Amino acid sequence: MKTSETINHQRGSYSVQFVELGELFSGFSKESAYLITDQNVATKIQIPAELKVLTLPPGETTKSLEFYSLCLDWLSKNGANRKSTIIALGGGVIGDLAGFAAATYMRGVALVMIPTSLLAMVDSSVGGKVGIDTEFGKNLVGSFWPPKEVRICPQVLESLPKRHLRNGLAEVLKYGFIMVPGLLQSLQKWIKDGDYASVAAACIHCKAQVVQEDEFETSGRRAILNFGHTVGHAIESHLHYQDLLHGEAISIGMVVECYLAEKLGTCSAETFNVVQQTLQSHGLPIWHPALANSEGLIKLMKQDKKADHTINMSLIGDIGVCKLVRGIPEDLIKASLFEINKKNAS
Ligand code: GLY
Repeated sequence: MKTSETINHQRGSYSVQFVELGELFSGFSKESAYLITDQNVATKIQIPAELKVLTLPPGETTKSLEFYSLCLDWLSKNGANRKSTIIALGGGVIGDLAGFAAATYMRGVALVMIPTSLLAMVDSSVGGKVGIDTEFGKNLVGSFWPPKEVRICPQVLESLPKRHLRNGLAEVLKYGFIMVPGLLQSLQKWIKDGDYASVAAACIHCKAQVVQEDEFETSGRRAILNFGHTVGHAIESHLHYQDLLHGEAISIGMVVECYLAEKLGTCSAETFNVVQQTLQSHGLPIWHPALANSEGLIKLMKQDKKADHTINMSLIGDIGVCKLVRGIPEDLIKASLFEINKKNAS
């Protein structure tokens, strides 16, 4: 297994290192390190007592303007300056929020990502996207701010609640659906064996390739990582970031987008079945009553960052192939949501 990955970006490069538990905090100085985490993580991981720590409530609703402002004030009150390093210790919410604070505090300070959830290890800690949600949409305010370093310790996943581990599997399986034919089988074998180090290394390798080809999501290449996200983000936003975890919403989003892909002829009925059954077999949801609100969801899809007067989605072809498709007809989305609902609502 590869134990590190180097990711090049416009301003330099950073490494994603696989480390032991005892190495998670090595090398940080108490003068310059500012660690942001959440209450769940703080009870499970022993943070060195000498570090300055801001502990926030867990959950997506923390990724807000209110908590962003609280982070900035905490940094100011505790003397953070341009030489400081912000350490984001937590899942995707903490990584995105603390990362956005790092990107903007004094016009940008160093960021170290220490992801503690599977989802954050395989997706949000790598690639430099940071940001917060607003009532108008998920990740609507943010920046590209690559970290100085990412440290991953798969051992921390042992204390992750089962629901949160499954949540990460949605993003893991997504790589199997969109990239490299054959990857899906390997990922499923490692998941079955509980070999999350191999799972994380393979997904990070995929993500590293994509973000290096299209760092700022301008060519359409990086948009493939958004398979399931146009619909998934709309569901999350519609539910005010409650009820479903991000990966769960993305799982439903992948099913809906794959259904649309089949209608548009980019994928076969067999591919749709593979996607749906794979997600279901890993305990992920494939439907939610919120899908009944097609008008509201379509309105939110129009506010997606990939939208440009039309709704655009990253759709799969065969397993392992994905591309951005522009101008998905609204009546087709509406009809598909209706049909999926009819099949699943009892
Ligand atoms: N999570 C999708 C991306 O980083 O582009």
